[in-house]
Amino acid sequence: MMLEGKKILLGVCGSIASYKSATLTRLLVKAGANVKVIMTKDASHFVSPLTFSTLSKSPVLSSYFKEDTGEWNSHVELGLWADLMLIAPASANTIAKFAHGICDNLLTATYLSAKCPIYFAPAMDLDMWQHPSTKQNVAILGNYGNIQINPGYGELASGLTGEGRMAEPEDIIRFLETSLSTSLPLSGKRALVTAGPTYEAIDPVRFIGNHSSGKMGFAIAEELAKQGADVTLISGPSALELKGKRIRRINVISSDEMAEAVEKHFPESNIAVMSAAVADYKPKYVSTEKIKKDSSEFGMELVKTTDILARAGQMKQAGQILIGFALETQNEEANAIKKLEKKNLDFIVLNSLNDEGAGFKGDTNKITIIDRYLNTERFPLKTKEDVAIDICKKITGLI
Ligand code: CTP
Repeated sequence: MMLEGKKILLGVCGSIASYKSATLTRLLVKAGANVKVIMTKDASHFVSPLTFSTLSKSPVLSSYFKEDTGEWNSHVELGLWADLMLIAPASANTIAKFAHGICDNLLTATYLSAKCPIYFAPAMDLDMWQHPSTKQNVAILGNYGNIQINPGYGELASGLTGEGRMAEPEDIIRFLETSLSTSLPLSGKRALVTAGPTYEAIDPVRFIGNHSSGKMGFAIAEELAKQGADVTLISGPSALELKGKRIRRINVISSDEMAEAVEKHFPESNIAVMSAAVADYKPKYVSTEKIKKDSSEFGMELVKTTDILARAGQMKQAGQILIGFALETQNEEANAIKKLEKKNLDFIVLNSLNDEGAGFKGDTNKITIIDRYLNTERFPLKTKEDVAIDICKKITGLI
């Protein structure tokens, strides 16, 4: 699940184990990763680049230049593009080059430029694997922070039996999934997010609602998941779709349904972000029949809805982080602070309707974060995705 949407550079070295990398490419793509393959010159003697370009759905890179068009394959750009670099199989030769900063081909140059986590799955004959120079080089890579996926024990292509065969593709995938899910800032944390409007029924065809699109809450849910959290999104009626498949989505319509869902899921949450625009009032009586326009005037009695955020604030236990939103038009920060204190929040995200581009329906927002110690951070106008990143950074800072 963690590989979904990840940009992966797969480095394939000259080793008979490179035939397994074809399966590995297939599995990475199947897991939702975006894969680009870099082959060394010798790797293409073992497996045709066409195999990898077909499986990865992307041209295979092997030299600094695309020979047909003369275009430059920038190792710097490739290094920046990748979320993760995986060298499988990693030959003794390439491991030695990595260890000593030699960059005589596209793979080794990209390795030197990459800023992302680097995983390598060695594959070689057992004598090469046991040689002190290989051992030293592997240890050097460990010191650089590169992560080794251990070779297995068994029959080797040379006919010898011992350690040195590349880990099986399924095991490499499992290794990456585990490693990614435990190395992110919010790994192991459960997060609850509310988003969108609520609809309060008047009769079978009418309701009281609002213009909330759900964009801010959806962006927060996606960002929390990216940071490793296990996310449950409770969404009011919203046309939005989640990009990632990792998020559990619970659809509700009314504030009562949202309150019930929050009450159920909040106790098991480490983080709760209540970004829904919950109706403050609902009709006291809901007509079971469609209301007719019989009279020239029509009145309706309204009652307050449950303040879901305040309820969560009452339920909150030590170690739980609760975040609310405030949409203010006057005395903005003072009102937000009152809300923060009254609802027992860890921080409040204030957006002002006075700021152009901020608020409800659009793609951008301008926020101020005020925490319980009244530290106040004012952010410029940003896309809702970038605002979600700022909010998540504040959350990871508290954890
Ligand atoms: N909220 C909620 N349940 C409600 C109403 C609001 O959980 N019934 C939450 C919203 O998700 C948001 C915050 O409370 O996080 C907004 O607080 P609220 O007191 O409703 O403020 P506003 O509606 O912005 O302003 P007002 O003070 O005018 O009501």
